[in-house]
Amino acid sequence: MNKKEIPFRVGLGVSGGIAAYKAIEVLRLLQKSGCRVQVAMTRHATEFVQPLTFRALTDQYVLVDDYDEGNPDPIAHINFSQTIDLLLIVPATANILGKFANGIADDFLSSTYLAANAPVMVAPAMNVSMWDHPATQRNIEKLKNDGVHFVEPVSGELACKTVGTGKLEDVENIVRQALEILNRQKIEKPATNDLAGEKILITIGGTREAIDPVRFISNHSSGKMGFALAEAAQKRGAQVTAVCASTTADRPKGITIIDAISADAMHKAVRENLSAKSIFIGAAAVADFRPANVDEFKIKKTGLDRLNLELEKTADILAEVSAAKTAGMLVIGFAAETNDVVDFARSKMQRKDLDMVIANDISQKGAGFNTETNIATILIKSTGAQIDLPLMSKREMADKVLDEIANIRKSSAATTA
Ligand code: CTP
Repeated sequence: MNKKEIPFRVGLGVSGGIAAYKAIEVLRLLQKSGCRVQVAMTRHATEFVQPLTFRALTDQYVLVDDYDEGNPDPIAHINFSQTIDLLLIVPATANILGKFANGIADDFLSSTYLAANAPVMVAPAMNVSMWDHPATQRNIEKLKNDGVHFVEPVSGELACKTVGTGKLEDVENIVRQALEILNRQKIEKPATNDLAGEKILITIGGTREAIDPVRFISNHSSGKMGFALAEAAQKRGAQVTAVCASTTADRPKGITIIDAISADAMHKAVRENLSAKSIFIGAAAVADFRPANVDEFKIKKTGLDRLNLELEKTADILAEVSAAKTAGMLVIGFAAETNDVVDFARSKMQRKDLDMVIANDISQKGAGFNTETNIATILIKSTGAQIDLPLMSKREMADKVLDEIANIRKSSAATTA
C-alpha cells in the first residue's frame, strides 16, 4: 500500500488457541504494510498471550471485555466495529466460529462480529478432530454463506502432536489475503444508489449434470463474475436474488441465494423467482446438454472397454426468460467464446433477443473461468454500441457492466419523459 494514503484500519481479533502467539507476527506484518491495527482478544486468548504485548505494539488499549475496569470506552464493541475496514480473526478457534455462526454475542469479540459492517476474515487453527467435527464444518458452511472469508488451515503436525488439517496458515499468506480484501474494497466505486428500485435475478456458477450417483458433467465456472455483479448491484441499491449452481468463489453478504445445482433445478428456480424482477442476468455456465438417463447405481467399469453417454438438450433459461419478458425488463447474457468472439456474441444477442451481452474470449490470459480478472466486450442492443473492456478485476468489471445498465435506464427515462 502507498503509505501516504489513508491507512487501512484492521480489527485484529485473537481467540484462545495455542496459535495465538502467531497473531503477533500477523500484527507486525500488517503494520509493515501500512495498516493501523487495533487488537481485541477473548478472555481465553489472554491465557496464551498477554494483552500487554499487543498494547505495547499498537500503542492502543487491548479490548477483552466491555465491562473491564480499564476499558476507556463504555460501548467499545460498537465503536470498534464501526471504525475498521476489516475484522481479521487469528487464530479462530472452533468455539469462536460456533459463536459467530450462531449469532451468540456473549463477549467483546463475538459482539463486535455481530455489530461489524466491515468484511470479516477468519484464519482457523485447532486440533484435527475439532476441525473435522460435523458441528465445526456446519458452522463453517454457515459462515461462508454469510459472506465470511476463510484462510483455510493447512495440514501438518499440530501442537497436540497429531498430524492433520488444523494448522494455522502461514502468517504471510494470511496477511496477503487480508490485504487483497482491503485493496478490493478500495477499488470499489464509492456508493451510488443508481440501481435503487431494481430487482435483479442472476444465475451464477457452473451446473452439474449427474451421470450416476457419483459422477457428473460440469465446467470450470467459479461464480466469481456472477458474485462480483451481485455484490456491486446490491451496493448500488438493487435487490439481488442469485440462483447458484456449483461455485467456489466467496458469496457476498446482502443478497438472497437459492441453490440449484443442475440446469434443470436452475431452470425451475428461475421460473419460480422471476416474477416482479426488473433485470435478469444469465451469468451461469449452464450445461447445454445433460445425460439422457441418470443411472440409479454407480456405473461399474468391469466388462466395459468403452462407454457411450447419450446427452439430451437442456432448456435455454436465458432464451426462455427473454421470450417471456415483461415491459421494461432488461435481459442480459454472457457469451464465453474461443474464436470470432464478437460475431458469435452479436448473433447470440439477436437470436435470444437480449438487451446486452458480455462477451469473453476465454482463450485470452486473464479472462474467463476461475480467474480474478477478466477481459470483455459489452454489446448493447438499443444503441448498437460495442464497449471493449481491457484486463481488470472482475469486481471492477462488474461496475462497468452496471454503469451500462444504469445508462440504458437513464436514456429510456429520457425518451419517455
Ligand atoms: N444459458 C442459459 N441456459 C442454457 C444455456 C445457456 O441460460 N441452457 C445462458 C448463459 O447463462 C449465458 C448465455 O446463455 O448467459 C450463453 O450461453 P451459451 O451456452 O454460450 O449460448 P448458446 O446460445 O447455447 O450458444 P453456443 O452455440 O455457444 O452453445
